Amino acid sequence: CGIVGFIGREEAAPILLDGLARLEYRGYDSAGIAVYGAKEGLQVVKAKGRLRVLDDIVAGGKTIHGHMGLGHTRWATHGEPSDVNSHPHVSEDGRIAVVHNGIIENYVEIKEFLQAQGVHFASETDTEVVAQLLEYYYKDGQDDLLGAVVKVLHRIQGAYAFGIICADRPDELIAARKDSPLILGYGKGFHFLASDVTAVIKYTREVSYLDDGDIAVLTADGIQVYDALLQPVEKERCHVDWEISAAEKGGYEHFMAKEIMEQPKAFRDTVFPRIQDGRVVLDDLSLTPDYLREVDKLYIIACGSSYHVGMTAKYTLERLLRKPVEVTLASEFRYCDPIVTDKTLALVISQSGETIDTLAAMREAKRLGARVLSIVNVVGSTIARESDDVLYTWAGPEIAVATTKAYSTQLALVYLIGLYCARALETIRAADYDAIVEELLLIPTKLEAILENREDIQYFASLYFNHPSIFFIGRNIDYAVGLEGSLKLKEISYIHSEAYAAGELKHGTISLIEPGTLVVALAGYRPLFEKTMSNVVEVKSRGADVLGLTTQSRGDEIQKTVDHAILIPDTHPMLLPSLEVVPLQLFAYYVALMRGCDIDKPRNLAKSVTVE
Ligand code: G6P
Repeated sequence: CGIVGFIGREEAAPILLDGLARLEYRGYDSAGIAVYGAKEGLQVVKAKGRLRVLDDIVAGGKTIHGHMGLGHTRWATHGEPSDVNSHPHVSEDGRIAVVHNGIIENYVEIKEFLQAQGVHFASETDTEVVAQLLEYYYKDGQDDLLGAVVKVLHRIQGAYAFGIICADRPDELIAARKDSPLILGYGKGFHFLASDVTAVIKYTREVSYLDDGDIAVLTADGIQVYDALLQPVEKERCHVDWEISAAEKGGYEHFMAKEIMEQPKAFRDTVFPRIQDGRVVLDDLSLTPDYLREVDKLYIIACGSSYHVGMTAKYTLERLLRKPVEVTLASEFRYCDPIVTDKTLALVISQSGETIDTLAAMREAKRLGARVLSIVNVVGSTIARESDDVLYTWAGPEIAVATTKAYSTQLALVYLIGLYCARALETIRAADYDAIVEELLLIPTKLEAILENREDIQYFASLYFNHPSIFFIGRNIDYAVGLEGSLKLKEISYIHSEAYAAGELKHGTISLIEPGTLVVALAGYRPLFEKTMSNVVEVKSRGADVLGLTTQSRGDEIQKTVDHAILIPDTHPMLLPSLEVVPLQLFAYYVALMRGCDIDKPRNLAKSVTVE
């Protein structure tokens, strides 16, 4: 979910709506705002559906008045998307309004307690419990709002980022965080709270990041942050230096299209400054050769597309480092009693740096003794701050829910980490090292060439966009890229799709292949080209249509077997995923476009999942 809070001297509602528009990628089931006005009192408007529904109801904020308020855009957990389940939630006497990101795990017990006291609930959500409990303690404690907030925080279990306002206190806005991201924005005569910097960047570039347990009181003229015991704490302020245009569409129809096209630049920005005189230089990394020699296992932990980067990384890093690499979904890692020791290096991959499953798994890995190296895109995010080492992907803000440029830059960092560690461990021959580095520097130009030929992909999408089911097959890194190609397609086009290791298909799934089923065959990985082509022949002889993907040097060969072929420039086999993934992103994009899907905001998804 996305939350934003504003306190200042201007009308709050239009500013809150603008902030929500920039946060909508965090959830878009419903949206709401609460604004306090001296004459009007607390005004709360909420609506199921996209933000534009709310925006129309309040005429862009013109019908609501006041200088302090909260906004929320929801990704539903407890309680279906509906007007009443939308945030902000208001206490029974209408004085206190709360927005929340996270899950209150013991809300049923608290709800029963409050109901026994005669409190009536309007919604099915866990969040309403917080508003009602706050009112309960507030009344009980002779209207000490901050004291009541502390009591509530002690009573609840789970994850939260809160924004809280009270009609009795028109000059203050309260924020609190545990396990869900929350930032503060500083301006002259105004202040913000928000789930991420995109919401405030138009108004201020001075921000600070709340830590778990922090509580902040914001007024128009200042912010005071306290720890859980209400002791004042100083927050370091950071300057956000990216341009606001980086988070806007810039002439493209969709953020996804813009972000696909930005990949050559993002790759360059991530890789080039880290290669000096033909060597990978990772100044921000504190892993010494001695430490690396001691490491007996790498654990890669991530979710979604970041996990798919991990799947590719397993092949790459095992080959380069000759150490076992295990890749685990973060949501599984926590509860599988993982074998982690102080000789384990955990590589945590996350675009947002806030995915709660990944964060929790990372904390567990640390607790068990692992050292954590993270690959993160969002500067100052929780995973970045809590890692022993962090390498940033300089992809810039990624807004489309379906990741593209973050995936590509994560992959780029995997190569850099692999090369860096292999050199330190002396597990790579100098000539191989040089050849890979040389090829790395050519990747952006090759990406540009692929993007220039995007009309070919658009044509293939026009042939297949009505297919009910699409399979992706490949071996080794081709398989790992197929997982991402398949996810991209299903998440934005809603076509059923699965990815298989090509050799595995015959052990069951081939029964689903019928005349006309589309199989996308990734056959870029040179050493296994022939093997994959055998599997292509198997599906062809069961009537499948095959769209092949390989490098130009194999063009003639693949054309003999497949119905259509996508050809990409040749490169070092290890770097192939960087080139292969782009046509698959474009394919998914064009298929979704032709099916009339809401590309940047696919149903049921959110960009940053901060609940377990
Ligand atoms: C969500 C997004 C995915 C993303 C995953 C992990 O599910 O929709 O695109 O890959 O979270 O996100 P992270 O920010 O940790 O990379």
